[in-house]
Amino acid sequence: MSRQNFIIAIDGFSSCGKSTVAKALAKKLHFVFIDSGAMYRAVTLYFLRESVDLEDVHAVQEALANIHIDFVPNTEKTQLMLNDEDVSDEIRMMYVSDKVSEVSAVKEVRHAMVAQQQKLGKRRNIVMDGRDIGTTVFPDADLKIFMTASPSVRAERRFAELAAKGEKVSMEDVMENLAHRDHIDSTREESPLRQAEDAFVLDNSDLDQEQQLAIVLEEYTKRKKVD
Ligand code: DC
Repeated sequence: MSRQNFIIAIDGFSSCGKSTVAKALAKKLHFVFIDSGAMYRAVTLYFLRESVDLEDVHAVQEALANIHIDFVPNTEKTQLMLNDEDVSDEIRMMYVSDKVSEVSAVKEVRHAMVAQQQKLGKRRNIVMDGRDIGTTVFPDADLKIFMTASPSVRAERRFAELAAKGEKVSMEDVMENLAHRDHIDSTREESPLRQAEDAFVLDNSDLDQEQQLAIVLEEYTKRKKVD
């Protein structure tokens, strides 16, 4: 039997504005929004706290078995719970960002997260953003969007985001972190970041949020399932 739920996959490099579009789209369509990057960030936070050696497969597997990630919808925003602790803010800190690509390149980590993401997409209409959603997690997604933006626009967005949270970082650090993550995310062996052949490409360097939403909604309407 063919799948009845509608899956929207949004992929792209870091700080391309994927989650902003994904959240707005999910709200408009009353779909569930799932930030897959937050899951890798939560695993990274756990690994950092427990000093898990990424080279030690047993330690990685044991740590993964002890990690429980949950998304809890709240009035303001969705909370990311790591073993029942709200880590929504901590996972956005620079020290987590600095390590997250290394952790998410580990095969065992990817297998565990992909399996959990596929479960979250069962029987529900979802918008999931990440790096490998349209290629590995849901290769049969109903709508795939690949987002891009110029490196300077991306760095400015990230810088503003961190500054708003009171984190003191230089523009240089931000650019370095983005370049570093781009490199690891797109060159890793296991499900690297790449554009799915059937993805709709959205370059939002010169588009505001409303314009982006209008474009993706139009793509959704073209593919909408009729009852
Ligand atoms: O979307 P983000 O910047 O919060 O993601 C954090 C990191 O997680 C990113 O550097 C790469 C990794 N990631 C991944 O490997 N696969 C995904 N589907 C989502 C994120």
